Formats: sequence, C-alpha cells, structure tokens
Amino acid sequence: MTLLRAAAATAARRGARSAELDLDRLRADFPALEREHDGRRQVYLDSAASSQTPRAVLDAMSRYYLEQRANVHRGDYALAFEATLAYEAARDRIARFLGAPDRRGVVFTRGTTEALNLVAHAWGRRHLGPGDEVLLTVAEHHSNLVPWQLAARARGATLRFLPLTEEGELDLSALDRLLTRRTRLLAVTGMSNVLGARVPLAALVSAARSVGARVLVDAAQLALHERIDLAGLGADFLALSGHKLLGPTGIGVLAARPERLEEMDPFLAGGEMVDDVTLEGATWNELPYRFEAGTPPIAEAIGLGAALDYLEGIGFAAIRAREAALTRHGLALLDAGRGVRLLGPRDPARRAPVFSFSVVDASGDPIHPHDLATLLGAEGVAVRAGHQCARPLLRELGLSAVTRASCAFYTSLAELDALAAAIDHARTFFSRPRARG
Ligand code: ALA
Repeated sequence: MTLLRAAAATAARRGARSAELDLDRLRADFPALEREHDGRRQVYLDSAASSQTPRAVLDAMSRYYLEQRANVHRGDYALAFEATLAYEAARDRIARFLGAPDRRGVVFTRGTTEALNLVAHAWGRRHLGPGDEVLLTVAEHHSNLVPWQLAARARGATLRFLPLTEEGELDLSALDRLLTRRTRLLAVTGMSNVLGARVPLAALVSAARSVGARVLVDAAQLALHERIDLAGLGADFLALSGHKLLGPTGIGVLAARPERLEEMDPFLAGGEMVDDVTLEGATWNELPYRFEAGTPPIAEAIGLGAALDYLEGIGFAAIRAREAALTRHGLALLDAGRGVRLLGPRDPARRAPVFSFSVVDASGDPIHPHDLATLLGAEGVAVRAGHQCARPLLRELGLSAVTRASCAFYTSLAELDALAAAIDHARTFFSRPRARG
C-alpha cells in the first residue's frame, strides 16, 4: 500500500512537472466531485469551508479501521504497535510537510479552533498580564479572535488590531504604531477566509520578533494554497485543520517551537498527558503528549498524513499555477458589469481563488447573500453565504453578509463559468417582482 502510494505520488509529481494537471483524472480521485444535482454535475465552490477528500485518504483510514484498529501508546500487542506506528508516522509526515524541525512540536488537536484555544489558554495564562498587548488583525476568523478576547479578559491584557488598506489588504504601515515593547504576541491569519488575500507573513514575523513578541499563524486557509516552511518563517505557533487540507474532519495540528510548549501547562487534562498522578496532583508527560489528553483522533491523523502524501504528489508549483488560472478567470467573471462587488485585491498575484462578493439585481437592488446562495444551491452551485465567521471584518467593510465562492486546485474553470451563469440568472430572477410591479 505504501509502495503503491509512493508510486502514485511519483507519477503525479512527474505529471505535474511535465505539464498542467490532468484535471479530469485528478477530479476522479474525489468521489464527491462526481455528484450530480438535477441531472447536472454539481459545482462545488465551498472548499474554503471544507475541501473535498481524495480516495487515498479514505483508503488509509479504512486500512486503520479494517486492519490496525487499536488504541495507541497503550497496548502491548501487535495491533497496538501497528496503530501507534501509523499514528506517529502521521506526525512525522506533518512535521515534514510544515518544515517543522522537531516532531515534539507537532500536537494533534481536533482542528484549528482547538489549536488556537490551546495557545490562548495555556500560553496566555502563563505569559499575559495587565498592561500586556496581543496584536491581531481586523481580518481574523472568530476562532483567532474570541479565544484572545477571553484570554485578555482573564489576564487583564489588551487586544490591538492591524487595520486594512483601501484595497482590502493588511496595512503594514500601522505596524510601527501597533507593535511595541508591550506586545507579547502577534496572532495573525495566514490568509483571510473572506478576502483570499495573501498575507506578507515574513514581514509580519520579522516586525513582531524585532520587539520581542511571539508569533502565531492561523494557517487554516493558507495551508491548501501555499507551501509552509515553519522553520524558515520563524513563527512560534501555527495552527491548521485537516478538513481544509484534503483530510478528514476532527483533526487539526498545532505546530510549535518545542521550547514554547515546554513553558506551558496543559490545556486539556486526562489520560496520556501525565507522567505521574497522585491524589493530590500530577506531573506532565513529555512533548507532544502533554497536549494530547485522552484517546487521540487516530484514524483522522492517519488520514491527514495520506492527504499530505496526495497533496505533495501534485506539488505546490502545479497547485500555484492552477490557482493562478482560477484566480484570473474568477476576477474576469466577477466584476461590476455582472452587478458584483468583489472583496479583496484585484491583482491575481496577491490573492488565492477565494471570492467573497455582494451582488445587485438587474434593477440595481442588493440581493441578500443568503437568497443568492439559496438560489445558486438550488441550481447545484455550492457556495457559502453569511458573515463567514468574520463579523468584525465585514463590519469594517460596511457589510453584514457576503456570498463566497472558494476554489481548490481541483476546481475547473467551467465551474466558475457555471457560477457566473447562475449569478446572471439570479439577477434577473430577483428583479422580476419589481419589473412586474
Ligand atoms: N472557517 C470555515 C470557513 O471560512 C468554516 O468557511
């Protein structure tokens, strides 16, 4: 199985190097993309909410359930050894994928949200106090905002926010004012789930480090679009989710410098995370197990490892090229001529194919994003509508909700054409009562 996977990965790598991705062949790896809706191929444009999962991931998880099913780190029998090896191999796989220098810094969580809460709670409790500041951006997902609100409230610390430029990008010119000796942490998204804008992480990390602040990157959206090099980046913490990275739900990663984790007390307590326990107290297990209380998401970790094999088999160079084509096509389709106000940068080099927008109908009246998404959904075009778990950002932009169409490398240009056609139809549909009246 491993050999087969390696051979498939090599073949895919060769294909990626020699030419564009063979999209039909690649899409056949994703069973859900084959689904039909009312006799037509469904159009899946919600990959920023959850990417689709290739068969290789399901095969790896099935193998665990069918052949290796046992708990990890506990049993003294062959099945348990195998399960433990597979689980720990997934940790090594993730460390390699992220360029993390030390596997002790790779902690499995249930997702990005849990990873961010872990840092806000365990690191915040230890390192934040009255007068300290945490610098966030106005573009954060609620997952990288609300945990810091709670931590700041508990510790008497203050939150500061990097604003956006007119073009909807982070305004780095405000860093001088906002980053001070009081800043303990910069906690920043690697890519906004709304704007799709690429974030100048290297500049942000170096500015934060110059005032002695720690850095946390919410890479939930970034990880599918760009190669991450944690050691090169120099961040202290990075969080991601498996389900946005071709993997299963219920698994995420906190990748951290081990020395940061060493200085933190556990977040969740229970089995596995302890070294010794008496009736009066406990001592902590070594890293990374100190932060993995209870039975971990074993099959999910194995599935995430297989997802990374698949992704690297394709290669980020090919992914980047494919996404550039999708971005250019999306930008050309989603313009004012179609009644669309698109958020985020217009320069394709500065963004990923994640398009949030509002639309006016043929009479010039706004269409509510939920109405639009419902009509698109009825036509088999899957998008997300609402505040996108980023209410402060939308308020900043003078909006309460948007519609979002988000692509991954497996999205076809034809799917974006279908979106544009469905928007055109919606604009006529929603202006009809007015025309009749
Ligand atoms: N955080 C995911 C999104 O932006 C669910 O859609």
